[in-house]
Amino acid sequence: MTNFNTRLVHPPVQDDNNTGAVNVPIYQATTFAFPSVETPGKDDYSRSGNPTRRALEEQLADLEGGVAGFAFASGMAAIHAALAIFKRGDHLIVGQQIYGGTFRLLHQFFQRWGLSITTVDTRDLEAIAAAIRPNTKAIYFEPVTNPLLHVTPIKAVARLAHQHQLLTIVDNTFLSPYLLRPLSLGADIVIHSATKYLAGHSVVSAGAVIVNSQELAQRLYFIQNALGSILSPTDSSTLMLGIKTLGLRLDRQMANVKQLIHYLRGRPEVQQIYYPGIACQPGYPTLHQEARGAGGVFSFELDEETVDPVKFVNSLHLFKLAVSLGAVESLVELPSRMSHAELKPAEQRAAGIKPGLIRMAVGIEDYHDQLADIQQAIKHAHQSKEEL
Ligand SMILES: Cc1ncc(COP(=O)(O)O)c(C=O)c1O
Repeated sequence: MTNFNTRLVHPPVQDDNNTGAVNVPIYQATTFAFPSVETPGKDDYSRSGNPTRRALEEQLADLEGGVAGFAFASGMAAIHAALAIFKRGDHLIVGQQIYGGTFRLLHQFFQRWGLSITTVDTRDLEAIAAAIRPNTKAIYFEPVTNPLLHVTPIKAVARLAHQHQLLTIVDNTFLSPYLLRPLSLGADIVIHSATKYLAGHSVVSAGAVIVNSQELAQRLYFIQNALGSILSPTDSSTLMLGIKTLGLRLDRQMANVKQLIHYLRGRPEVQQIYYPGIACQPGYPTLHQEARGAGGVFSFELDEETVDPVKFVNSLHLFKLAVSLGAVESLVELPSRMSHAELKPAEQRAAGIKPGLIRMAVGIEDYHDQLADIQQAIKHAHQSKEEL
């Protein structure tokens, strides 16, 4: 087996490309002719199987170390498909700080279909154990949460899950298989919003599910074909293009994060930094054991007495004010007013989201320019307060 960075560039060999094309061709076809009634070809209809999508799906399975991968039209479509393996009456234990869209899907969609859900802080194994019921079927969580970057130990959770015959489902969007491979730590299903780090350029919405057994693969294939929220051949190709540079991008992003944190730690306006890649952080020991790095997202709290957080984010130029993450461009958001605005102030406080909390998804630009942008925005946010 070749090394991971090589496998990013070269997906598992496809046997139906006779042209020598160095990239998997885009098979822009919805249907495929049968050689004869008696001998159908490998594919008959693109929802059920498309060679471009299959190349991507095999690569996703390979990178995550799974048995099979499935590509979807968005991260939410992938999560919908993964959770559709459950049935009325099943109970799920779900991480307290999961992505808001996943929370909405669980509470406003799956609960209507008879799934019950208990949310717990998955860093707390005793809390997970206490939430297990006779009808519990799975534990679902994000190993690094948004925006406070809490770290859940996958190995320990998966061990507990297996003791109770539960599935472990991990949303690996934030770290990607370059940094973290949950299946190798005992998880059963890995999910991605491939829109983020896997694709990496803010140009494609995509999702992925990777499973660790043939049995789960069959269930997921049935659901993918039945629901039909597949990734198009063009977007599959775009995603494979993004995957080629996953390692390069993340290396640069993490190096940039470290430089920016180094600067922010020395600033009197910054009260708290959240990034489990630095040794003093509570999530560091677990992350250090289970992952190769902490990724390109970090958060920090500005002292509202000194600087105006709204003015700060509005004053950034290089960091675009946007809610996504994982791309080559640097993005910034104010969780209390943007990604978590749906929560009431008391709920935000309970979740640890203060008005001064800033989340940055750091891109691959030169960090000197990123730093200069942050410096001028802090200055600007100061001045505006002093003017008041
Ligand atoms: C951790 C996580 N999972 C899932 C999703 C949903 O993915 P998508 O927006 O591609 O549907 C997101 C989106 O932000 C996310 O951050």
